Amino acid sequence: MVKILLVLYSAGSHAIDEPKLHGCTENELGIRSWLESKGHTLITTDKKDGPEFESLLEDAEIVITTPFHPAYLTRERLLKAKKLKLCVTAGVGSDHLDLDTANELKIAVLEVTGSNVTSVAEHAVMTMLVLVRNFVPAHDQVRNGEWDVAAVAKDSYDIEGKVIATVGVGRIGSRILERLKPFNPKELLYYDYQPLSADREKEIGCRRVESLEELLGQADIVTINTPLYESTKGLFNKNLLSKMKRGAWLVNTARGAICVQEDVVEALKSGQLRGYGGDVWFPQPAPANHPWRTMTNKYGAGNAMVPHMSGTSLDAQQRYANGVKNILESYLSGKFDYRPQDIIVIDGHYGTKAYGENKK
Ligand code: NAI
Repeated sequence: MVKILLVLYSAGSHAIDEPKLHGCTENELGIRSWLESKGHTLITTDKKDGPEFESLLEDAEIVITTPFHPAYLTRERLLKAKKLKLCVTAGVGSDHLDLDTANELKIAVLEVTGSNVTSVAEHAVMTMLVLVRNFVPAHDQVRNGEWDVAAVAKDSYDIEGKVIATVGVGRIGSRILERLKPFNPKELLYYDYQPLSADREKEIGCRRVESLEELLGQADIVTINTPLYESTKGLFNKNLLSKMKRGAWLVNTARGAICVQEDVVEALKSGQLRGYGGDVWFPQPAPANHPWRTMTNKYGAGNAMVPHMSGTSLDAQQRYANGVKNILESYLSGKFDYRPQDIIVIDGHYGTKAYGENKK
């Protein structure tokens, strides 16, 4: 019998409104009856801090958590979790875990690679449109009973003819570029230490730029699509933001901590950035006074932030719920025949899905 700890947000009445909302404590990714029929114990909680969570963690052999309501599994917590063998991320991005410590302790870490990449790509493209077209203040106007076209038109542009760049051209970054092509941008650029093949570049219609600073100096719109790890933590700081074209838009659906919170606020205020949008924050949930909730450019616009939701559409929830079940099945059957692309760390080493150039 295996003890499995599942950490999800609670959805309350929303779980009753929509049974396809799998990723909440009420619906439990649809795995309870399946696990119980096999004699395993599932403990579900929305607590991710405090003594109650810590004691549940210390008793669990498997922990499942999501990037949307992440249980931060620090070194200190992992060291105390003596029975822990497997951590599963229901979604993509396992930066809420101390991966080096997981390696040291031979705890496996897997995620459901690919499960929500289309959902995020769609959201990133939408965020670009929302920012560039200046949608949010325009919509606020009509809701408030106002009508002032000039006030919103003065900060509204077209995507057509712009240079658009992605930092990271993996599953999400490449999908974003593919979706942007029909908008007739001036150019689609990317920076990634793993170049695409010439055929793939041709198919997408994009060009690689060898240095990040050079890329940022050319782009009107930048989208961040790398994992969060040592080399990307705080990457977009005051210095790097100053290398961007003045008045560019920045979209970040990767991880909040890739950008330095106060430097983004300052760049927006000074006009270095015209807009910033995305769905990722640090920490999560974002505190009520997180400056990204209310930051604006000089026109009181340029903010397209939402809660961490891009990768958790109902379609994505079905896919990552299925993926979690497959990973559990593989572990519980003793076959350990995981999909290689899901493995972040296993048996004390980094797996197929490398987190950055150092982990290859
Ligand atoms: P992926 O592994 O397919 O692609 C990541 C790409 O980033 C790879 O091509 C890699 O070579 C590149 N990369 C790594 N370090 C880099 C660096 N320092 N500079 C430039 N490129 C670098 O991952 P995928 O599926 O595209 O996801 C990317 C990230 O997006 C995830 O790690 C996660 O943090 C985030 N994400 C966010 C979601 C949301 O709901 N907001 C949902 C899913 C993923």
